[in-house]
Amino acid sequence: MRQSLVVGNWKMNGTRASSILLSQGIVAGLGSNSAQIAVCVPYVFLASVGEIIKDSRLALGVQNVADKPAGAFTGEISATMLNEFGCKYALVGHSERRSYYGDTNESVAARFSQAQAENIVPILCIGETLEQREQNQTFDVVNEQIDAVINLTGIQAFNSAVIAYEPVWAIGTGKTASDEQAQEVHQHIRQYIAAKDQVIADKIQILYGGSAKPDNAKGLFAMPDIDGGLIGGASLDAESFLKIYHSI
Ligand code: PGA
Repeated sequence: MRQSLVVGNWKMNGTRASSILLSQGIVAGLGSNSAQIAVCVPYVFLASVGEIIKDSRLALGVQNVADKPAGAFTGEISATMLNEFGCKYALVGHSERRSYYGDTNESVAARFSQAQAENIVPILCIGETLEQREQNQTFDVVNEQIDAVINLTGIQAFNSAVIAYEPVWAIGTGKTASDEQAQEVHQHIRQYIAAKDQVIADKIQILYGGSAKPDNAKGLFAMPDIDGGLIGGASLDAESFLKIYHSI
């Protein structure tokens, strides 16, 4: 049985004070739910949030990681640096990184590999744009995004990784994929991995992301190949994030 996982992606929001309050609120409401939970915070809040959550089940994550181990790469943050802060997860290839900051399938693969080299679990974000969906390219797009990583790391690297399927047209738009639309792609992704390694396919967590909210999370999480969620907007409020978590 796969464990469920709910991850908050705070993006570029909040202050140090509000991040502390938000993480305190989440920790206070974890209850006895045994599903895994994490927050991907802005780098500069890692230390403050890390201090609040260190004795709890809430795990620490970030939203990106450098594609190189160290050196003259102004503005980048390495996996080694993140490791020092007890960071467990790193998003790689979020669609906002791909579309606004030039991340490519190849650089995302390098980020994935750098995270793993420091025992940080990469959460590989994949998904199609509306145009690609309308042209029936969804499966090809996600296959390519996965292949770029496999080409660099090999399929075995997916033993300690998470995949987040996030249709670009659903991110921050209020338009969620229907339960069936999401399940269809999740099932495809699992089968695509299974064709390379059945054991990994059975155990890898595949999260859904894109306008997941307290009122639609339950239906999505009930789908057989949806193992949890990557939550943007609704993770900025402890109550709504916890409602989503507790609907697992
Ligand atoms: P959203 O963002 O929940 O605000 O749509 C999801 C994401 O970008 O990870």
